[in-house]
Amino acid sequence: MHADWDSTACRNEAAERVSAPVIEWVGELDGSLRLLDQTLLPCETKSIECRTVEQVVEAIRSLRVRGAPAIGVAAAYGVVVGLREFMMADRSQLNERLNEVLQLLAESRPTAVNLFWALDRQRRIAERSTSAASVDVVKALLAEARAIERDDRAMCMAIGRHGAELLNDGDTILTHCNAGGLATAGDGTALAVIYAAIAAGKTIRVFADETRPLLQGSRLTAWELSQRGVPVTVICDSMAATVMRQRRVQAVIVGADRIAANGDTANKIGTYSVACLARTHGLPFYVAAPSSTFDLSLASGEQIPIEERSPSEITHGFGRQTAPDGVAAYNPAFDVTPAELISAIITERGVIKPVTVAAIQAMLASHP
Ligand code: MRU
Repeated sequence: MHADWDSTACRNEAAERVSAPVIEWVGELDGSLRLLDQTLLPCETKSIECRTVEQVVEAIRSLRVRGAPAIGVAAAYGVVVGLREFMMADRSQLNERLNEVLQLLAESRPTAVNLFWALDRQRRIAERSTSAASVDVVKALLAEARAIERDDRAMCMAIGRHGAELLNDGDTILTHCNAGGLATAGDGTALAVIYAAIAAGKTIRVFADETRPLLQGSRLTAWELSQRGVPVTVICDSMAATVMRQRRVQAVIVGADRIAANGDTANKIGTYSVACLARTHGLPFYVAAPSSTFDLSLASGEQIPIEERSPSEITHGFGRQTAPDGVAAYNPAFDVTPAELISAIITERGVIKPVTVAAIQAMLASHP
């Protein structure tokens, strides 16, 4: 049995320390979008080059780039990619193509609101320059995509700073899915809090839920934390109750894909179970997310669209059949954790605690 395990171990550079950018714009106006292909981690660190909007949509849909803020940044650059051939076209043709590109990107994944937030920013840029030549509009859109990337990096840093104060020296933190550098343009959201606490001199350890069915916890979070020298222990999702009962963890921190006006939070499937377990065991349950993840147009989590993915991710995960032929499988990619289970939401503007409609409104109205 051990021989089998050895033969499937990572045998290349990904097992060592590497620093390929998660998202990178290469070149100038007619450049391309380079993405670290996260479907290959932890064994391979290979980037893909997107030169068409269809390639960007495919990369988002198949989770080569994933995590709410990173999806937003990739989509913002995707708009520019989609207009490459239209820089010399007249404005009406450019406008028509822009609508098409925005539509294609908006249909890539439904839950992370950062995608729609980034596309709205791009739409507003184009609307503002009605009389400009097409090439100047594309220039402005590239500048805005770079600004979205920069803003995201800054938001991660501020989330880390605010959240680090909630952690105690010696804490072990449970996290679910990947809300780290791989999911953003910066250091992440949930993991930024951990990195900042460590930078402030605290000793912090992490338990990472493996996060069925696509294993973002074991493939991505464990990889990212190991790369940065943070002690991490992977557990199956079903072990979270036991590690809490055994007092091996002191708090839970997760990211978010969309937060409704009342604080209900959509995040990777399984997050809600972890929140229930944290409540049962008297542990704080924190959500870390930038203001771009809030959707105040939705009164509660009931209205958040939840992506349903192919049953084959459950029955044939990673190329091996693990359920009988033809059996039904239900595969929602996200769930909603009710606000009352959330101890605090850590944003780049500060910590929202308790999580109420009024506290959320006040925080989001404040300046960063
Ligand atoms: O399906 P994924 O991998 O895109 O899901 C990602 C998550 O659920 C993250 O926790 C969330 O997007 C926050 S990332 C800072």
